[in-house]
Amino acid sequence: MGKTMTEMTSQQDAALTAISSAATLEALDEQRVAALGKKGWVSLALKTLGGMSPDERAEAAPAIQAVRAKVADAIAAKKDELEAAELEAQLASETVDLTLPAPDTASGSVHPVSQVMDELAEIFADLGFAVATGPEIEDDWHNFTALNMDESHPARAMHDTFYFPDTAPNEGRMLLRTHTSPVQIRSMKEQGAPIRIIAPGRVYRSDSDATHTPMFHQVEGLVVDRGIHLGHLKWTLETFFKAFFEREDITLRLRPSYFPFTEPSVEVDVGYSNEGDRRVVGGHGDAEGHDWMELGGSGMVNRRVLEMAGVGPDEYQGFAFGLGIDRIAMLKYGMNDLRAFFDGDPRWLAHYGFSPFDQPTLSAGVGAKA
Ligand code: DAH
Repeated sequence: MGKTMTEMTSQQDAALTAISSAATLEALDEQRVAALGKKGWVSLALKTLGGMSPDERAEAAPAIQAVRAKVADAIAAKKDELEAAELEAQLASETVDLTLPAPDTASGSVHPVSQVMDELAEIFADLGFAVATGPEIEDDWHNFTALNMDESHPARAMHDTFYFPDTAPNEGRMLLRTHTSPVQIRSMKEQGAPIRIIAPGRVYRSDSDATHTPMFHQVEGLVVDRGIHLGHLKWTLETFFKAFFEREDITLRLRPSYFPFTEPSVEVDVGYSNEGDRRVVGGHGDAEGHDWMELGGSGMVNRRVLEMAGVGPDEYQGFAFGLGIDRIAMLKYGMNDLRAFFDGDPRWLAHYGFSPFDQPTLSAGVGAKA
């Protein structure tokens, strides 16, 4: 015979008290196991139904079920209550103080030289130029001989070349390229004519003072096609500088000069004015308060160079130029010491560097500073 109903009622009352006073979900679960678990007193009471006569069962079953339902309901209600309280406590302990200062995070910046190289590529891409590259460890033939500077050429002495020791003599000798002009040769040999490229990159010379560093940057330009003349060169440089300095009043002066790889050769000067201790590009260099600054060399590609690069000089003509990137960067962004470019001083970089989000585009401006 099972428990008497009185016994069950007192068990039920004790359980309901324990449930309502459970302080934690764990304590509540202990009550659930004690009553409704496999060996809990409610489950055991239900099992006794099997040994009863039908009459007894008809009477006891609803009563036991009613106890079971009461206890289960009480547990479910208490569970909701405890869970809500737990969430409340968690929310209260996890407040975020939005007035606290943001933690320091390491931040880098885009070096002005990189930024200017991107600007160059953007402007020249719009003029139909592709970007070409060549090795910084170059051989003597590409750096000198193919550019019409053979072993005995006096212009070689001006380049203060870093040679690698113990490499093959003469044309096979390895060196750090002294200018970006060997990329002209490599590009013509690879692609033939017509061709329209710029080649920005690092160059090296054994030379160091306030305006010279052993490593610096140049951008080479090369256009080879039929019927190319000096007028194309002047227009291209003028169009480039107007876009680069973002002003229309750019005046260029082409001065007769000499480079072994161009004939005729010209040096390119730009008019500027002094504003405080800063040189600002614009206006006419001969006007009052203005002067000229040399930006690079250029000229019509010497036919011997075309020949050496495998391009027929009777059919094709070309112009080329080589500009100092660091120089035009200084002019545009107002730095006055070249050496600071390569010191890696984080204060300088924080001041003159660019945000990675400040990508130069022709529509948004090639000089926008974040
Ligand atoms: N390669 C020359 C230098 O570094 C600069 C130069 C002059 C490049 C005339 C050219 C050019 O393409 O046509 O001094």
